[in-house]
Amino acid sequence: MSKIIANGAGILVPPIKSQGIKTKMVPFIKEKVVIEQSGTWIEPFIGTGVVAFNIAPQKAILTDKNKYIISFYKGIQNGNITSETVRCFLEFHGKELEKYGVEYYKKMRNDFNENGDSLYFLFLNRADFNGMIRFNRQGKFNVPFCQKPNRFSKAYITKICNQVSNVAKVMEGKDWIFDSCTWQKTVEKASENDYIYLDPPYIGRDTCYVGEWSEEEAILLAEYAHKTPANVCLSMWKENEFRRNSHLYDFWHDFTWYEQNHFYHVGAKESNRHPMIEVLAIKR
Ligand SMILES: C[S@@+](CC[C@H](N)C(=O)[O-])C[C@H]1O[C@@H](n2cnc3c(N)ncnc32)[C@H](O)[C@@H]1O
Repeated sequence: MSKIIANGAGILVPPIKSQGIKTKMVPFIKEKVVIEQSGTWIEPFIGTGVVAFNIAPQKAILTDKNKYIISFYKGIQNGNITSETVRCFLEFHGKELEKYGVEYYKKMRNDFNENGDSLYFLFLNRADFNGMIRFNRQGKFNVPFCQKPNRFSKAYITKICNQVSNVAKVMEGKDWIFDSCTWQKTVEKASENDYIYLDPPYIGRDTCYVGEWSEEEAILLAEYAHKTPANVCLSMWKENEFRRNSHLYDFWHDFTWYEQNHFYHVGAKESNRHPMIEVLAIKR
């Protein structure tokens, strides 16, 4: 088996991007999370997959409400999506994008909103503004173009292909289940030796993934996390220079908190990018 290529910080970077990706938190999570060999790693908000791919447990249940993320990783798992199929797709559509620019991006986005195809999802995710994932109320992907018609250079395609084959390698020989469902269904599967890693959307702010994340749902998640026999690690923001997260103080105060500074790249302007104190709140 050839080697997995990690980035400069030794982190396996996944082919899918998102505004909430936890790449920079991975070393901290790996330091604080201790899993039982016999247990299952359970991640109900897998997003880009960066945490699971770097923890690389033997057994895992990896789910998300975003069915396109799940189909994409299932495709890699069953061998339908490989670095070769990705290269072929991105080379062809990358050339068309270079010729026709934003109009071609919009055509790919319309086609994806009809066919839901995993490779179209990858193309859009890697050619859109800031690698965002966002759907409108009708469930249609609506992120604008990054405005770089020559987006898919040879080097960029190779980088994405390497990311795909790294993910394929990390899945090899592992007992991993991918499923598209709500978090309740996933958390209910956990038993005592299992470890649940929770990275839910921000209350009231993340309306951009696959629907609203309400205060009521966040409170319900805290209830499930306390009731489950499994160990739980929650990733959540604690405070920034303007605000404090009262939800964390109200509903997760009995977990042990470990803090780290995290720099979010969410704004278009450099001046809008503020550091945030992130917490890993661990049950036991
Ligand atoms: C903060 S992101 C997770 C980021 C991930 N840890 C990473 O590093 O890429 C939250 C994820 O929760 C998913 N999500 C939102 N509402 C959900 C729900 N009700 N049930 C399950 N997943 C949900 C979103 O699709 C999104 O992928």
